[in-house]
Amino acid sequence: MAITINGSDVEAPGDARVSLLDLVRDRLNLPGTKKGCNQGACGACTVLVDGERVLSCMTLAVQCEGRSVTTIEGLAAGGALHSLQQAFIDHDGFQCGYCTPGQICSAVGMIAEIERGVPSVITADLGGEGLSLSREEIQERMSGNLCRCGAHNGIIDAISEILVREAAE
Ligand code: FES
Ligand code: FES
Repeated sequence: MAITINGSDVEAPGDARVSLLDLVRDRLNLPGTKKGCNQGACGACTVLVDGERVLSCMTLAVQCEGRSVTTIEGLAAGGALHSLQQAFIDHDGFQCGYCTPGQICSAVGMIAEIERGVPSVITADLGGEGLSLSREEIQERMSGNLCRCGAHNGIIDAISEILVREAAE
């Protein structure tokens, strides 16, 4: 069974030990997804699997057979940047850029979680109408993605802008 990666079907590796991260970076030449710690601690390798954020270093490629994977290369559509990519530029949400693909993929998945009403560990009112879009809530939900350059304020600003814009639509 194939893995769909950024809209194209790819054969799963014969070696069941190959991680999703190594498949996209080393075998498919999609270097946008970054290898930081390679042990689930930094979030640099975050991609979307069926729309949910996952750590690709902790995911075996064969686990994604029959599923749809989106990497940072697959977010821009028709040559136009994804709204979060543009917001990261507008708010100086990066410096070296190493963590940025993971931050953006994680934010895409996180916003979808909020739209589905998924609470975070600090969500106070679990039965409330709509979830808080506070800075603290976003910080908590993005706490799995580390930025060694310290661009976290710009990152949260960028995500906040998109959340506020989507809430108004
Ligand atoms: S490289 Fe996957 S979490 Fe750090
Ligand atoms: S922008 Fe350099 S690690 Fe985040």
